Amino acid sequence: MAKGNSGLNAPCCRVCDGRLRVCVDFGSQALANALVAPGDDRREEFLYRLALGMCENCTLVQLVEEVPRGLMFRDDYPFYSSGSAVMAGHFAAVARRFLERELTGPDAFVVEIGSNDGIMLDTVRAAGVRHLGVDPSRRVCEVAAAKGVRHLNDFFEKSSAVEIAAAEGQADVIFSANTFSHLPYLDSVFEGITALLKPDGVFVFEDPYLGDIMERTSFDQIYDEHFYFFTARSARAMARRYGFELVDVEHLGVHGGEVRYTLTFAGSRRPGPAVAEMIAAEEAAGLHRPEVLAQFERRMQRTRDELLTLLRTLRDQGRTVMAYGATGKSTTVANYCGIGPDLVSCVIDNTPAKQGMLTPGTHIPIRSPQVFREAYPDYALLFAWNHAEEIMAKERGFTESGGQWILYIPQVHLV
Ligand code: SAH
Ligand code: TYD
Ligand code: ZN
Repeated sequence: MAKGNSGLNAPCCRVCDGRLRVCVDFGSQALANALVAPGDDRREEFLYRLALGMCENCTLVQLVEEVPRGLMFRDDYPFYSSGSAVMAGHFAAVARRFLERELTGPDAFVVEIGSNDGIMLDTVRAAGVRHLGVDPSRRVCEVAAAKGVRHLNDFFEKSSAVEIAAAEGQADVIFSANTFSHLPYLDSVFEGITALLKPDGVFVFEDPYLGDIMERTSFDQIYDEHFYFFTARSARAMARRYGFELVDVEHLGVHGGEVRYTLTFAGSRRPGPAVAEMIAAEEAAGLHRPEVLAQFERRMQRTRDELLTLLRTLRDQGRTVMAYGATGKSTTVANYCGIGPDLVSCVIDNTPAKQGMLTPGTHIPIRSPQVFREAYPDYALLFAWNHAEEIMAKERGFTESGGQWILYIPQVHLV
C-alpha cells in the first residue's frame, strides 16, 4: 500500500501507516527558506498547511502535509552551516570522534547526508580519510567543493545510495545532521542506507528533540523542512521497522536541544543503557501522549499573544526594533504571530545570500550586521535564539549602548 497523505481527512504515519492524530495547527504557511527577491514581492508565494500529527501506533510526531522536496532544496537554498562558529566547533568534534573510533581502518569511508558547505567533512578531508557528502542544493555544494570536500549534488535516496555503493564501496559510517528529519520518504532512504552501510557500520543522525521542543515551547522548530520530530521511543520503532536497532542516544545542547541517535543493523550490536533510560524519561514526561502536544499548543498561543502585544506596545511608544537571524525557524514565528515590517524594521543576518532579500510571507528586509552596528535599535528580537551566546558575545556593543534583546523561548522575556 502506498504510504503518504493524499487527503488530509485521514492522514497516516509515514513509517508504520498508523492513523495520525492532528495535534498542533499553524494553518497556511510560507516555506521557511523561500526568501523573496525585492522585485518579486507581489508574486504569489507557495503556501502549504503546517500541522503536526502524532501516530496512534508508533507515536512518531510528523507533519501532516509533505512539501515537494524540489521546492525546498533548490540550487539557491540559502542556509550555509558554517555561519556559526559554535556549530563549526561542534562538527569538527563530531568528525574527530568518528576518526578516532569508526574510521581507523586502512580504507575507511564516511558518507554524509545533507553535507551542506562541508562543515563536518572538512575535518575528515584534512585527516586524509575517504568521504563523500550528498546534498541536493548546488550553491552550498560549491562551497564544500572549494574546500576540497568530495560531494554528490543529489538527494540521498535508494537510487543515489546504490550508485555510491557500486562506485565507492560500502561505508563504515553514514552520518546526517539536521537533515534526516527532512526526509519524509523513509522507505527509499532506509533501502539506500541498507545498501550503502557495511554490515558492522553505524548510521548516526542528530536532529531537534521533541522533548526539548515540548519543554521549551520552541514551536518555531516546526516548519516545512522539519518533517519528523523524534523521540528515542519513536526512533527505536522506526529503526526496528527497517531492520535496524537503536543502540545509543546522546542529548546535545546545540540548536536548542537535539538528540544524536546511533543505529546499527539489527543484531550487530547490543543497545547501551542510555536508550532505555531516555525512553523511560520520555514516558514519565508523557511524550507519547497527544495531550502533551495539546498543552504545548496552548502555551505557544500564549507566547504569540504576548510577543505581539509587546511589539505593538514598543511601536506605539516610538521605539525602534530590529530582528536578528533570518532563520528558517523565524518564518514560523513571523507568519504565525503576524510580525511584519510594521513591527520590525529589518532582520539582521551574516549570510551574504540572505542579505537584500525579504523574509518569506512577511517581507521584512534582511540586512547585514553592519547595518545593526551603524545604528543600534532600542530592541532586537532574537530570532536565532539557539545561537544566543555566540550572537550576544559578538554584539556586546548593542547591550552596552543600552539595547535590549527580546526572547520568546521558553517564554517572552527581555535580556
Ligand atoms: N548538516 C548541516 C546542514 C543542515 S541543512 C548542518 O547540520 O548544519 C539541511 C541540508 O540537507 C541542506 O543542505 C539540504 O540541501 C540537504 N538535504 C535536503 N534533502 C536532502 C536529501 N534527500 N539528501 C541529502 N541532503 C538533503
Ligand atoms: P539557524 O538557527 O542555524 O538555522 P535555521 O534556519 O535552521 O532555523 O540559523 C541561524 C541564522 O542566523 C543563519 O541565517 C545565520 C545567522 N547568524 C548570524 O547572522 N550571526 C551569527 O553570529 C550566527 C551564529 C548566525
Ligand atoms: Zn507510526
